[in-house]
Amino acid sequence: MSANPLAPAWLHVPADADALAEGVWSAAAARDAAGEIAIGGVGAPELVERYGSPVYVVDEADARSRARRIAEAFRVAFERVGTGVAVYYAGKAFLCAEVARWMAEGGLRLDVASRGELAVALAAGFPAARIGVHGNNKSVAQLEAAVEAGVGAIVIDAEIEIERLAGIALRRGVVQPVRLRINSGVHASTHEYLATSHEDQKFGVTIEDAPRLVAAIRAQPGLRFLGLHSHLGSQIFGAEGFAEGGRRLLALHASLLDGGEIPELNLGGGFGIAYTAADDPEPIERIADAIAGALAAAAAELGIPLPAVAIEPGRSIIGPAGTTLYTVGTVKPVVVDAPGIPAVRTYVSVDGGMSDNIRPALYRAEYSARIANRRSGAAPVLVRVAGMHCESGDIVVRDEYLPGDVAPGDLLAVPATGAYGWSMASNYNWVPRPPVVAVRDGESRIIVRGESIDDLLARDPGVNAT
Ligand SMILES: Cc1ncc(COP(=O)(O)O)c(C=O)c1O
Repeated sequence: MSANPLAPAWLHVPADADALAEGVWSAAAARDAAGEIAIGGVGAPELVERYGSPVYVVDEADARSRARRIAEAFRVAFERVGTGVAVYYAGKAFLCAEVARWMAEGGLRLDVASRGELAVALAAGFPAARIGVHGNNKSVAQLEAAVEAGVGAIVIDAEIEIERLAGIALRRGVVQPVRLRINSGVHASTHEYLATSHEDQKFGVTIEDAPRLVAAIRAQPGLRFLGLHSHLGSQIFGAEGFAEGGRRLLALHASLLDGGEIPELNLGGGFGIAYTAADDPEPIERIADAIAGALAAAAAELGIPLPAVAIEPGRSIIGPAGTTLYTVGTVKPVVVDAPGIPAVRTYVSVDGGMSDNIRPALYRAEYSARIANRRSGAAPVLVRVAGMHCESGDIVVRDEYLPGDVAPGDLLAVPATGAYGWSMASNYNWVPRPPVVAVRDGESRIIVRGESIDDLLARDPGVNAT
């Protein structure tokens, strides 16, 4: 079958539009004997029948094993160059008490970016000393809560936070360990990175300002300087950007050693995952090795010992573990004027959309999809999976080939939705947020309750006013 002229160049007509592309789905997702997609041994129709549609499904074993694999890859790579690594799970990707426990049990630390994320982590019993706190504009209440909890590190993102935080620590009679976030001028995304002297963004302080600000931190008796931090971007497929960012950070680190010891260097997160069959991120072991090698060489050149390193992966741990299940409501072939010939794009509309996954609308993020309740065998057609919201940009999967007999009532599974799906979900159009269900060994259970219309009405004090 030839490609639809409306399809992007990267999307190939699949030989089998029922097949689950390797590397995109969670490890425990597969078609069962009945042709249904089962995740963690639980069939998609059973999940929808029990929890409703749409529903986020998280493969627990997959999330735990990715956390272990990343931690181990970096541990081994940095042990080889003689230093240690602290791995923080970036909770902004998706956090609830259960996931916090999985990460704690895997030996990871936790990075939180708001007062709410901190509250969830503490409520889950995550040890405060293993929590790092981020944010470019942390409220005083957020800083107070973090210091009170005894978090292991707070990332200072602006000069004013030095005095703010020092005051809180002094009043409480504690010494708060801090990092300083540097805007290194290296920005990376997928295959490329951009290195400038000054990056135009809100996070961090410049390399030029860093010596003065580190001196100011060191002058505060209520603060202890742990080291520099940077985060280059997201969905980065190779090691080059990390290596370049790391080299810049390490040179700055070396220049600050005269003022006292600096135990660590934090390289942030951003490791990429496959959302479609066209995505091919480098294995994390190779990335870890390349970063360790680049940093060890840079440290040798600078004549300094390599500090301990910290990283903060979010998406690469929880992203591939998540799948969203939707129900198809309408199927509408639309004739579009393609170059030369009219072509057909089939709009498949589902019962969710930008309220449960804003990434396609926000970043033109690509996803893939499969019919989840049956095997089809029908010839593939080019589809656009659209949501049910009042926005033409409300797209779930921009371009995909699905079996041509896709019909109302079918279930669609969209893989790799574990990161920045639920965590960025909204109530747009007063749509209740779906539940998150963990699956494992044929069992399923809710790890975040879904909202009902009554939950939403309860927040509007005008509802029962007469
Ligand atoms: C400071 C920081 N660390 C870690 C992360 C996690 O990034 P990812 O989920 O892409 O690994 C982010 C994401 O925005 C971030 O801002």
